Amino acid sequence: MTKITAAITAIGKYVPDDILSNEMLEKMVDTNDEWIFSRTGIRERRILKGEGKGTSFMAIKATQNLIEKSKLDPAEIEIVIVSTATPDMQAAVTAAFVASEIGAVNAFGFDLEAACSSFLYGMSVAAKYIESGRYKKILLIGADKCSSMIDYTDRATCIIFGDGAGAVLFEPNFEGLGLQDEYLRSDGAGRDFLQVKASGSMYPVTKEAIDKRENFVYQDGKTVFKNAVFNMADVAVKILKRNNLTKKDVNWLAAHQANRRIIEATANRIKLESSKVMMNIEHYGNTTSATLPLLLADYETQLKKGDTIIFAAFGGGFTWGSIYFKWAYNS
Ligand code: UT7
Repeated sequence: MTKITAAITAIGKYVPDDILSNEMLEKMVDTNDEWIFSRTGIRERRILKGEGKGTSFMAIKATQNLIEKSKLDPAEIEIVIVSTATPDMQAAVTAAFVASEIGAVNAFGFDLEAACSSFLYGMSVAAKYIESGRYKKILLIGADKCSSMIDYTDRATCIIFGDGAGAVLFEPNFEGLGLQDEYLRSDGAGRDFLQVKASGSMYPVTKEAIDKRENFVYQDGKTVFKNAVFNMADVAVKILKRNNLTKKDVNWLAAHQANRRIIEATANRIKLESSKVMMNIEHYGNTTSATLPLLLADYETQLKKGDTIIFAAFGGGFTWGSIYFKWAYNS
């Protein structure tokens, strides 16, 4: 029997219209464009505005873009996975709402949370369902409304994050294309360095927590930076070695867009030339679960059937990993 591999066969994206530029941030906190751009590579990010609009709003838009481009019948989708660190609400699954709104009437949906690694882990999960032979159309969405958990008086975090969503369709492939190998890791010691303290069951949101601004993202940037540089590069090296790949075999690096310096450090460790490094952090900032699908959407026209892509991500938890992937179509 021919082996089933899990390929991406369609992509869609959505970013909100509202731009928050470095110049605008200069008027909000003590910062400047030169500092932000040289330390992070970010010039602007998108912010979702409007009452009652949450992550699902962007996830639905990204999926509608995918459906429009690929002519997919949403009734054929069997599973909807929303990878996100910012679900619409606690306890009510965002993916269930997204599935209903897009017309995925025959699907079940669930959310997957692994901070900035959510989409990478989601790729692994979606691929397993496809490889099992039981499912044939899985929608994986990476979406985050980061602005909902950012303190816009804290210059250490408000300059980094933005909002956005990307959606991909996973289908079986019989030519050996799609997900080839994965190396996923986590380390719970990391949770002290990147967290929203008052948001879950441990420290529910109280007036006292709000007064202490604990309902917003806290990040020890330096520690997260060091761990991200080391670990993202480490897993990228490991996955190449395990698959006997050299830099010549790699067409693209698709790395989580948290900081241009972290992405460049990962590329340098595997000695990859900059022309092969996907980069759009300048325009969107760190969109958490949306960075990888937004990269795929922005580079879709340059991707060729058979291209080797190395995915890498690092995020809160800590969570991180790398995926070796073969692209399945020419657009
Ligand atoms: O996606 C999940 C994972 N997240 C990440 O991967 C983010 C990892 N961390 C980072 O990207 C970087 O650590 C930051 C971009 C957050 C910060 O860059 P940094 O080079 O690590 O700066 P720093 O925190 O060491 O601060 C250096 C200086 C400090 O001043 P002093 O103490 O040297 O006088 C800060 O107070 O820069 C100051 N500073 C700023 N200055 C202007 C910190 N934030 C700002 C700011 N504007 N926004």
